[in-house]
Amino acid sequence: MNITIDGKICQAEQGEFLLPIARRNNIHIPTLCHSEALPGQASCRLCIVEVVENGWHKVVTSCVYPVTKEVEVITNSPKIVNMRKTIIMLLTARAPNNEYINRLREEYAIPQSLRFTSDQDEQCTLCGLCAAACETMGLSAISTVSRGITKKVSTPYDEPSQTCIGCSTCAQVCPTGAIKASEQGNKRTIWNKSFELLNCKGCGRYFITQEQLEYINNRLDTTSDELLCEKCKKTFVFKKFTAMYGHVVTK
Ligand code: SF4
Ligand code: FES
Repeated sequence: MNITIDGKICQAEQGEFLLPIARRNNIHIPTLCHSEALPGQASCRLCIVEVVENGWHKVVTSCVYPVTKEVEVITNSPKIVNMRKTIIMLLTARAPNNEYINRLREEYAIPQSLRFTSDQDEQCTLCGLCAAACETMGLSAISTVSRGITKKVSTPYDEPSQTCIGCSTCAQVCPTGAIKASEQGNKRTIWNKSFELLNCKGCGRYFITQEQLEYINNRLDTTSDELLCEKCKKTFVFKKFTAMYGHVVTK
């Protein structure tokens, strides 16, 4: 079916969410808590847009709004821009010196507010993506704890978690860079826990923790200790392919 976004006719599948349709058509909608690997978080509301149906306007969250009929969508109406500005102001109050939030503030010409006093070092916006990623992996080593202004993401009792495997997926998925994973030599430290890193048998780079390797082996029901990083794995497959066929087949 066809829908209209900001006057542009866009093709959409029945049930497809609005955000990917807009992105496919190079229409910018700001997001914070959306990750293609973990869709459906819908906690920040930055991606709100207006949908017009039979002359009625309604505000919807584009990352989780499924298209079921031919509608008109407006991503930047004055109403939406004002609502987004309020959301960005609240995010600024929470994480005043975060680069991602500051870029949004500049995009929407919002001055740095002195109305709210907050922790100048806070980088987390409590979007929940990190905890969702950890839960999806079946580990739940971190979650949001406490309430109100003391709410934060942490391990139970702020202690090193028994279930954390040091994969740093939480840090990779975090849009604001709030989770710090430090690496020095063959040590990775994250959430107050240090992990020994194993090196790639191809390039020698330290890239995976012992606990992560065991997790992968358990999930795949294997006992593989063939340690190759993603880059070396690709090179290995490529070499094997060219050795088999003698040349690379291109379309
Ligand atoms: S640490 Fe990052 S991913 Fe986790 S809730 Fe905070 S902003 Fe979101
Ligand atoms: S990106 Fe849609 S609610 Fe956060």
